[in-house]
Amino acid sequence: MTETGATTTREIRNLEAELTRHFGDSAYTAALSAHHPMGRRIHGVDLTKPLNTQQAKVLVGLLDHHSVISFPKQGGQSFQLNTLERLANHFGAPVPHPKNYANYIEYKKTRAPLKLLPRAKQTATLCNAAFAGDIQCVEGADSPAVYVVTNLPGSGPDQEEQLASGLHWHTDIEFEPVPLSTSMFFVQLVPTTRNSPNSTWVSDKRPDAGFYHPDSNPVLNQRRFDLPLNGETAYADTARAFADLPAVRQRELEQTQVRRRLRVADPGWLIPLVYVNPRTGRKSLHSPIWASRGKNIAPVSIDGLSEQQSREFLDEIESHVLQPKYRYDHVHEAGDITIWSNFSTLHNAPPAKSVINKPEDARLMYRISCKGEPSYDLPRSDTDEWLYANIVPPYKSV
Ligand SMILES: [Fe+2]
Repeated sequence: MTETGATTTREIRNLEAELTRHFGDSAYTAALSAHHPMGRRIHGVDLTKPLNTQQAKVLVGLLDHHSVISFPKQGGQSFQLNTLERLANHFGAPVPHPKNYANYIEYKKTRAPLKLLPRAKQTATLCNAAFAGDIQCVEGADSPAVYVVTNLPGSGPDQEEQLASGLHWHTDIEFEPVPLSTSMFFVQLVPTTRNSPNSTWVSDKRPDAGFYHPDSNPVLNQRRFDLPLNGETAYADTARAFADLPAVRQRELEQTQVRRRLRVADPGWLIPLVYVNPRTGRKSLHSPIWASRGKNIAPVSIDGLSEQQSREFLDEIESHVLQPKYRYDHVHEAGDITIWSNFSTLHNAPPAKSVINKPEDARLMYRISCKGEPSYDLPRSDTDEWLYANIVPPYKSV
């Protein structure tokens, strides 16, 4: 029996049997990549239909064991994002995206009544204007819970093409007391100009100097900057990376407390570096990065270590996690729903065309992220107190 953390091949086989039992004989799973063990492609499942209790349990179990699960052929232009939001509610409470609000910063400071962006300024409206005859967002892109990941705003036939570098390796919103548990994409469009015979979709544009700490180990930086160039999302498997460590090192990391905080001046709070999945016992490194979310986020410190020692401690773990054997670059296909665990992965956005002048270069995906425990039945039963404390801005799917 193969051990990957607390996940065994027998548990995975049982899940495959449950998948067929609850979704029918045409449901099965396959490797996402011939070259990497991370994640599963799940065929024969229609996520546009409501899930019953047992079906929801199977899908949560698959995510718990595989960290990234992807479902092909979930729809095209007629897809409705309220079905993605319903699905998200099984994995956690959807968290609205601050960029969907006109006055989020004012709300945070003074609790002024929240206002959504006016329709003319919404991302979906800007996307629809780019190549109006060719590309229109699917219905529901204006939900506060939906974050549109795209290169369409500001693009159009007369625009000059622009290229953006890759971002930092990170876990979404790991710096809040209750971090995001799960994120998911519905993919409407991917660049069809990728994978040309002689090149990639974009060139390897690196960020400016200073993007990472100047004393970062060159080997670590090389791993950080090694990103895919066809519009994929890059993942690193922090569960397998933990499982491969010597037992002595595992015990050391299990006793390590990380101080998280949003700003340097915040006192923050301590959480364990090693996350233990409450349903499977599978262990993973929850975002073992120093503070690679950008200049606005305070560096992470390790309880008992100085700032420099904390950085060196976490850089060593990040370097281990970003080894090619733990990396998986997910190739998005139109119609996919792809779900990932934020507790057992790091991810990164690759270099991409950020302004385009032909619709074939469009990248148009919709992300919903959630917090809290899964709920096999809907509606969720989160208390108002929990929602108010942890879902900011306040939000509840109807
Ligand atoms: Fe992210």
